Amino acid sequence: MKVGVMASGRGSNFHAILKESHNGNLPNVEIRHLIVNKKSAKAIEVAQEYNIPFTVIESKDKTRKDFEKEVAELFKKENIEIIVLAGFMRILTDHFVNLYKHKIINIHPSLLPAFPGAHAHRDAINSGVKKSGCTVHFVDEGVDSGPIIMQASVDIEEGESEESLSSKILVREHQIFPKTLELLCSNKIEIIGQNVKINPD
Ligand code: GAR
Repeated sequence: MKVGVMASGRGSNFHAILKESHNGNLPNVEIRHLIVNKKSAKAIEVAQEYNIPFTVIESKDKTRKDFEKEVAELFKKENIEIIVLAGFMRILTDHFVNLYKHKIINIHPSLLPAFPGAHAHRDAINSGVKKSGCTVHFVDEGVDSGPIIMQASVDIEEGESEESLSSKILVREHQIFPKTLELLCSNKIEIIGQNVKINPD
């Protein structure tokens, strides 16, 4: 399936997907294009390393509607079927989400529905939970609220810092995000209401 990626920053998840794809582990995934909403996004360097076409569509000083119109036009031109949010730090409008209903996946650094939003690591540490992790989910109209596809957990140790927790979770993100994408692109994921069923071969 033809996949478009959206990112805002470092791009380590984008890199993990490209690496797995390069190693032949994502046979049904064709990464066609990267869109970044900031020209400083390091994800651009990742695209260059793997020869993936990329476009900068600046989102600042633009309405969400105008930004998304440009994204949708580009992805339509590229025949994109699946959208991956790989550290894309902007909320999408209901209109855009419905344009690609159940075709947009996101990675979030907590075990959703716990700790949605922009400070997942800090919120997990401050709450005193002993485990956190990451979640790959479909994007719906809410914030980090769509059907959950896959999760991985890590222990929170005594004295854990935001940085150390983030690094531990990132290792797990890089494992489950490419895996989920391949399952989606090989039509093995079934959505039943808020529940997701993974169908084996
Ligand atoms: C990742 O930790 C991802 O889970 C998080 O941003 C980071 C992006 O890193 N995403 C969110 O918080 C979305 N709500 P990356 O640019 O190196 O992939």
